[in-house]
Amino acid sequence: MGILDGRVALITGAGRGIGRAEALYFAAEGAQVVVNDIGVSSDGSGGDTSIAASVAAEIHAAGGSAVANTDSVTDWQGAKRMVDTAIDAFGDLHVVVNNAAISRPRALVNMSEAEFDAVVAVKLKGTFAVSHWAARYWRERYEAGDRADRAIINTSSSAGLNSPYPLNTNYAAANAGVGAMTILHSLELARYGVRVNGISPGARTRLSLDLPAGVDSLTARDRSAPGSYDPWDPIHQAVVVAHLASAACTLTGQMLTVRGSTVAITRNWSVGEHVSKENAGWTVEELGRALGRLTFESPFDTLVYLARVYGVSDREQVQQLINRFLDNDEQSEKAS
Ligand SMILES: NC(=O)c1ccc[n+]([C@@H]2O[C@H](COP(=O)([O-])OP(=O)(O)OC[C@H]3O[C@@H](n4cnc5c(N)ncnc54)[C@H](O)[C@@H]3O)[C@@H](O)[C@H]2O)c1
Repeated sequence: MGILDGRVALITGAGRGIGRAEALYFAAEGAQVVVNDIGVSSDGSGGDTSIAASVAAEIHAAGGSAVANTDSVTDWQGAKRMVDTAIDAFGDLHVVVNNAAISRPRALVNMSEAEFDAVVAVKLKGTFAVSHWAARYWRERYEAGDRADRAIINTSSSAGLNSPYPLNTNYAAANAGVGAMTILHSLELARYGVRVNGISPGARTRLSLDLPAGVDSLTARDRSAPGSYDPWDPIHQAVVVAHLASAACTLTGQMLTVRGSTVAITRNWSVGEHVSKENAGWTVEELGRALGRLTFESPFDTLVYLARVYGVSDREQVQQLINRFLDNDEQSEKAS
């Protein structure tokens, strides 16, 4: 008996990294899986349709059930075809895991329109497109009297939620949008019995190892000894996502930060300390003085606090890291 017995799951970007770990784990837990992937490099270039098929073949070899799909999540009709693939192959769809992403890190001053659009298209529009078509199918099922548990699990990133590293305008904006959609869609889709949650992962994958120079030393992503507990193994993400995907889970509208076996509630932008006047508006001068009495958090302090989790507590080191990101980007801009 697996926790996902009888569940049909569509996982985007399931050919590699976290998505692949999720596909294999879901199948081992009894799910029938649509393995979606277009097999691109981490900047979105190229494409290899054998990547999705090879994960489906791995699942078959282990006695599980899977089909491959090679539509892009950026393709509106392709997103519909993914949902249709699940229904055609397995007769239903219970779970969507929006996981596909690419990365094109550049500083704001150097980022091109194409670099912005490409990253946003995969992560933000892709999450919207696949969720949209699944939601339409689920509304139809609900209206026909079907009360099965349905779940969307989005994949955001600390880059867009709470870790303001530079060079991430496109990626952070897209992932912040995914965080917003997670909350919004949980409220909209509750009426059709659909739960919507998200994870903010940290795992050793091609994408994380490709991040700008310096991040590896900060996160010690590749330092664990063979056979020992490895907090950066993508399996830890897969276990959390399988829980969120299971019919036994009642959570909705939640974002969980996952680092190895540490799973943390992650809150959205929240309203903090405030100023106000009784039944009157501010003059601009008064407002300036009033805001001066509040304690504002500096994004740099947030970054220093987060870096402490990875064993870096020195403000100077964090500043050096930011400078290195920006200097490297400047050099690559000048060289191109
Ligand atoms: N690895 C981490 O530490 C980390 C941290 C924060 C967030 N994330 C998020 O986790 C998810 C998985 O990332 P990963 O690290 O496993 O990356 P990865 O590069 O190993 O895997 C991503 C997969 O998505 C596929 N893909 C890209 N564009 C696609 C498209 N248009 N349609 C379908 N498939 C497409 C790629 O071919 C690739 O196989 C992403 O959403 C990423 O933003 C990862």
